[in-house]
Amino acid sequence: MTLDEKIGQLVQTNGIFFLKDDTELTGPASALEIDLDQRKNIGSILNFKNAENAIKIQEKYMQENRNGIPMLFANDVIHGCRTIYPIPLALGASFSPETVEECCAMAAKEAAADGIHLTFSPMVDLSRDARWGRVMEGFGEDPYYTGVMAAAQIRGYKGKGLSSKESIATCAKHFAAYGAGEGGRDYNTADMSEHTLREYFLPSYKACVEAGVDMIMPSFNSVNGIPATANKHLLCDILRKEWGFDGVVNSDYSAIKELVTHGVAKDYKESARLAFEAQCDIDMISPCYAGYLKSLIEEGVFTEEELDRSVMRVLKLKNDLGLFEDPYRGADPKRVEELELCREHRDIARRAAEESAVLLKNDGVLPFSKDVKKIALLGPFADAHSILSWWRGRGNKEKSVTVEDGIRALLKDAEITVFNTCSCDYNDADESNVAEAVRLAINADIAIICVGESYKYSGEANSRTDITLSKAQLALVKAVSEAQRSSAVLLFGGRPLALTEVNECAHAILNMYLPGHEGGNAAARLLFGEVSPSGKVSMSFPRSVGQCPIYYNRMQTNRPPRAEYLDVPSPHNFTSAYLDCGTTPLFTFGYGLSYTEFRYDSMTLDKRRISKDEKITVSVTLTNAGRMGAKEVVQLYLRDLVASTVRPVQEFKAFKKIYLEPNETKTVNFEITEPMLRFWNAENKFVSELGEFTVSVGYADHFSFTEKFELI
Ligand code: NOJ
Repeated sequence: MTLDEKIGQLVQTNGIFFLKDDTELTGPASALEIDLDQRKNIGSILNFKNAENAIKIQEKYMQENRNGIPMLFANDVIHGCRTIYPIPLALGASFSPETVEECCAMAAKEAAADGIHLTFSPMVDLSRDARWGRVMEGFGEDPYYTGVMAAAQIRGYKGKGLSSKESIATCAKHFAAYGAGEGGRDYNTADMSEHTLREYFLPSYKACVEAGVDMIMPSFNSVNGIPATANKHLLCDILRKEWGFDGVVNSDYSAIKELVTHGVAKDYKESARLAFEAQCDIDMISPCYAGYLKSLIEEGVFTEEELDRSVMRVLKLKNDLGLFEDPYRGADPKRVEELELCREHRDIARRAAEESAVLLKNDGVLPFSKDVKKIALLGPFADAHSILSWWRGRGNKEKSVTVEDGIRALLKDAEITVFNTCSCDYNDADESNVAEAVRLAINADIAIICVGESYKYSGEANSRTDITLSKAQLALVKAVSEAQRSSAVLLFGGRPLALTEVNECAHAILNMYLPGHEGGNAAARLLFGEVSPSGKVSMSFPRSVGQCPIYYNRMQTNRPPRAEYLDVPSPHNFTSAYLDCGTTPLFTFGYGLSYTEFRYDSMTLDKRRISKDEKITVSVTLTNAGRMGAKEVVQLYLRDLVASTVRPVQEFKAFKKIYLEPNETKTVNFEITEPMLRFWNAENKFVSELGEFTVSVGYADHFSFTEKFELI
């Protein structure tokens, strides 16, 4: 291969480059300063429409490419390709890795048929700040849990392995600490100690490497002053050397050229140098590698061996995908038609939405009786198809099941009045229709108030400083809840909103997040008790935006808030608390109600003292003491009582989601092993220290049992 041919493998452009006629390259293509000759060598593309597109592009490309190296087709398959299931933040609430795996396997099948070889997923950025719009793409605030769920995504996408034409390759992103942007503002600076980075922000990416992720995407932001795209500490020292990752590193969209806007490179040539030095293999949509890598090699800044190393990573991925045997790799428009929203896929999406919904409040109004005659369905989400998301891939929004559709399908004889009023735009303050909504609610047996945040306000570059419901929607919730005791709020949106006022007046709140194509069916089945909610919050809901960033696994302080003031404002008493607000979130990590009642009967430890190679078995017995079969997430937390560095007040370490019939009792066993007790110490090492720990079951800050044990 010539130098140009090799460099081409490291250049990634848009599908549009290959769909235009060949006479000249215009628009984004010309901005990349890539000429027609270079186009023959481009190694990968993103953003193409469908299988037909992929086949057409590959056909033409294979005629032009001298070496017969197929093009790699990448795309953002974030929560489904054609059949859209709940957003990752919602799946986070499912506490069901099995569900995630099943969803991703379905997405892979559809994506592979649609010409996609690789998805830019999982997104594993730890999210502690609900102002950040991209919290919807990940699993929330816990490092261990995010890693478990991301590994399930990778298993699902990769299935039986990349040689299977029903699988797709994976890319973990955005490495690293993208979720820690100051103030929750997208693309903003992340500045943190090595301790925080190692202990909280890095484990989920490491879990992806351990689960066999094929690619890593560096984040846009700078981390401790160095943009991640050119951050040698992250990309070379940690990712390549420490973790042994030898797959492809693919920059984010124009991130290499944006090293200039970051102000760390004076021009695109310097950008190319900085990124390549950090072993970033592929340049996504920027002129840097295409324009300047060759001269950097000719001038001896990089050796051809260094270039070969990156090229080989790309070629290996193509080989693993079986592209050299079959450049079209299962792309098949007919198959896409068969799969898109087929019964089986709709069922998977519906079950996932049911598993993901979180019952945040219930005064006893839910579930509603299926015998109700008159239903008032109010608010902007009552008949809205916009329940997919900003990242709905190739999913057709018009084909989503609305709440109205779902309830009509379930309750054939009920009289349903739909009043879609008060928009879900954050700045809507028009309360003029609230009185009419109240009238409809009073005239009905029950009222369902379908409110939330438009899908447009979460996702990339959608940060907000006020994360409450719009004024109009809040007025609707208040007035209808006051007028109709048999009413519930059905909540939608891509981030944990600040719901204090809603919580004060609503009789019930069922949070659906952005539930995907089958959202309406899932909502209906949950509201009317066909199935009990079983989701638990995996990213805390703040009481007010002023608490952000907020997360359950906070560090111990010298003056912790007093127990009686955890949930309420604290008087001035020299503790680490707020005068005007509780310290804990409104709905914290691990919280979520059920229609049944789970009673935790006991927690026993088979040993109280272990050495480093021993383990403790913790047995938790619980009973379904209510009247409905339902699932419960049994959660285990640890705390290191005394250590050489300050430790979190609780750390989530294990969980099992189980189903119990009424009156059924089950015992769930967990193991505590020494690696679970390790932390990043002042000498920059992961170690465990001898001494006392506690183990608890329940959910964050609300434990049913806590016992001590000792590492000796
Ligand atoms: C920018 C986003 O940050 C990233 O997540 C995505 O994969 C790329 N664009 C490609 O669409």
